[in-house]
Amino acid sequence: MELDAKIYVAGHKGMVGSAVVRALKEKGYTRIVWRDSKELDLTQQSEVVDFFEKEQPDYVFLAAAKVGGIEANNSLRAEFLYENLMIQNNVIHQSYKYKVKKLLFFASSCIFPKYAPQPLKEDYLLTGALEPTNEPYAIAKIAGIKLCENYNRQYGCNFISVMPSNLYGPNDNYDLKHSHVLPALLRKFHEAKQGNLARVEVWGSGRPKREFLHVDDLAQASLHLMETYAGNVFVNIGTGEDLSIKALAELIQNIVGYKGEMIWNTDKPDGTPRKLLDVSLIHSLGWSHEMDLEEGIERVYREKFIDV
Ligand SMILES: NC(=O)c1ccc[n+]([C@@H]2O[C@H](COP(=O)([O-])OP(=O)(O)OC[C@H]3O[C@@H](n4cnc5c(N)ncnc54)[C@H](OP(=O)(O)O)[C@@H]3O)[C@@H](O)[C@H]2O)c1
Repeated sequence: MELDAKIYVAGHKGMVGSAVVRALKEKGYTRIVWRDSKELDLTQQSEVVDFFEKEQPDYVFLAAAKVGGIEANNSLRAEFLYENLMIQNNVIHQSYKYKVKKLLFFASSCIFPKYAPQPLKEDYLLTGALEPTNEPYAIAKIAGIKLCENYNRQYGCNFISVMPSNLYGPNDNYDLKHSHVLPALLRKFHEAKQGNLARVEVWGSGRPKREFLHVDDLAQASLHLMETYAGNVFVNIGTGEDLSIKALAELIQNIVGYKGEMIWNTDKPDGTPRKLLDVSLIHSLGWSHEMDLEEGIERVYREKFIDV
């Protein structure tokens, strides 16, 4: 990407989009364009056409999506499927129409089959049934990957997809009903400490294992791929290391300094038992993560709850 290229970051206010904007600015890119969802609703085809006609971006990072944790995915099933399909269809199709040089689409590791062997290699996609709680979201994301692949095959586009593991970092969602596990735990332990509560309820059994990547590492990896990679195979982006939700909860409890008890609410769903990405492809492409999990959580905790 030329430093003076026009780059559209869709979803620039979100956790991923804002990290991409920070990384682009750090590297000296100057012509970054964006709109928030009030100015440009990406589910509306005519609005997206008008935007591409006006801005004619050279490169696109597609980080706009309807995103949420297990509860939101499971209860807003139609919304997750409909809105994500619409956003992707509109942005990817107009990127083709307006001859965008390269597009990067953010998928998500929940799209792998529920019982796929671990670690998850890129070619395990579509080899088994999905986790039911986030099936609508996963179907939309798989469609996005397939759109990129097939616009490349039919029209010779250069659209790539990446598969980040669970992310955390600045601009994460801390709403307890709709957030992912890591920010939800940070908030619960912080509030329990502030309120001198005797116990904290944590959802599920604590047994599932998850991998976490700081969003600034993801942004660096995305820029690296935008500059160096072309292909129809999507690329896993993660640390290649996971831990149980119980171990994560204990780590966060220590970082926050909460001394009370942890109660596991096993009426809440666990989701997929394990989700560890095989990161050999991205390592072979010359990128690996920099931020250690404990250091990353300490940083996020300070930024969100202490230095405010
Ligand atoms: N968070 C994770 O752990 C994770 C993990 C793997 C993959 N990803 C992927 O990364 C991408 C971004 O996730 P995120 O965590 O950054 O999500 P996020 O913080 O919720 O941000 C989503 C962004 O999408 C925009 N958006 C949503 N609906 C829109 C619409 N109809 N029109 C225009 N903009 C719309 C929002 O814009 P406004 O703020 O203006 O409303 C927001 O900026 C998603 O594709 C997700 O699947 C995330």
